[in-house]
Amino acid sequence: MDPATVEIKRGLEGVVFTETHLSAIDGEIGKLSYCGYDIKDLAARASYEETAFLLWYQRLPAATELEMLSNWLRSNRRLPKVVWGIMHSLPEQATPMEALRTIASTLSMFDRACVHEEVGGSSLCRSVSLTAKLPTIVASFDRLRNDRPPIEPRDDLGHAANFLYMLSGEEPDPASARALETYFVLLADHGMNASTFSARVTASTLGDVYSSVVTALGTLKGPLHGGASQASMEQLLEIGSPRYVDEWFEKRMARKERIFGFGHRVYKVEDPRARILRGMARTVAERSGNTQWYEIAARLEERVLAHPYFKERRLSTNVDYYTGPLLYALDIPLDLFIPMFAVSRIAGWTSHVLEQQQNNRLIRPRAVYSGPTDVLWNEMTDREPMVEAQPEVQCVAGRPANCPAALQVPPRFWPA
Ligand code: CMC
Repeated sequence: MDPATVEIKRGLEGVVFTETHLSAIDGEIGKLSYCGYDIKDLAARASYEETAFLLWYQRLPAATELEMLSNWLRSNRRLPKVVWGIMHSLPEQATPMEALRTIASTLSMFDRACVHEEVGGSSLCRSVSLTAKLPTIVASFDRLRNDRPPIEPRDDLGHAANFLYMLSGEEPDPASARALETYFVLLADHGMNASTFSARVTASTLGDVYSSVVTALGTLKGPLHGGASQASMEQLLEIGSPRYVDEWFEKRMARKERIFGFGHRVYKVEDPRARILRGMARTVAERSGNTQWYEIAARLEERVLAHPYFKERRLSTNVDYYTGPLLYALDIPLDLFIPMFAVSRIAGWTSHVLEQQQNNRLIRPRAVYSGPTDVLWNEMTDREPMVEAQPEVQCVAGRPANCPAALQVPPRFWPA
């Protein structure tokens, strides 16, 4: 391949590598649907369990089927005993996302319930198990780090209400439970986003459901993807009051820094989920009696969308923007925002893994080599060190600051 002639699709923009029956996005008109159902209808009507059924089976369940799936999920909410020991031994500085990734990975070693399932069924069984357990991990870890005992799941509560109950110890009011459930439905799937793609890459190697989900959890965390909801809320906290929005915005623009919660690879108009989340964030804030964060968000959004920089680039409000004030008003701690995204997206990730397994081909793109060629081997004695030798400095395990700086210098072929 000649680097001069090959067209590189940076960030795989516009590359189509597979078909999917799960979700469809029209970025020009701002439309999202799961298996043909408009997200607006699902947000207004579907439960999270119903949405998970839709994604796993690609049709809406009949009443008896939904009851069966709901029972299957409920019966999987509890974590294996040994896992509690691991959870207790996590270091104090572990973040909720690190804890979630670690414990989700650990679960694969205690997975006996799905082993006897028929071939193919075992992946669905694992998908149900992970979907049911992720909320338990997130809520329990939050309680443990705050020196509060974890709370047993309640089998009479739905997926979202049970999560809020396990987090706070109090049964949530129906409006809060429904608001969180709607958020879960809205974020359950979204085409070939980075974490879903990474899950499919792992699945394409014939990696199992756990490995695929752990891959996705790692990918989700970055601030350009799932981390943006936390980063968006941090912006609002930094601003502090609607009257400081203008000053903050001007400074941010002058520093040429990104504003989290705006822009999208696919949507060139408003993300349809953002519209629904905006309304929910306002309602929940008004109900709680504290509209401060919603007001800052609305004022900042107004400034951003009116600015020529954002207009010219067709950057609009994305899903992560109003997620911040919504989750905050529901008393979800800031650093649980990314885990909350994972708790929603697990239905989508696992559906994509199942879909990949059904019609698999190894995902293996290429890169064009643009480094030096035909370099002659040179003996050690002929090689020039990049920095002077520092024999007195030792690399001590766990203390990289003591390592010679030379080892931290990037390879000379990397752009500065
Ligand atoms: N603030 C300021 N400038 C922006 C922003 C933003 N939020 N987003 C994009 N731009 C600019 C960017 O600097 C670039 O300008 P130029 O053409 O002058 O270099 C142009 O718009 C195109 O940006 P890009 O990074 O090439 O576009 P992309 O499709 O690779 O990136 C994105 C998409 C979501 C990573 C980006 O819009 C972004 O960083 N947004 C902020 C982070 C964020 O909110 N992420 C959540 C994404 S939606 C949910 C999810 O996937 O998890």
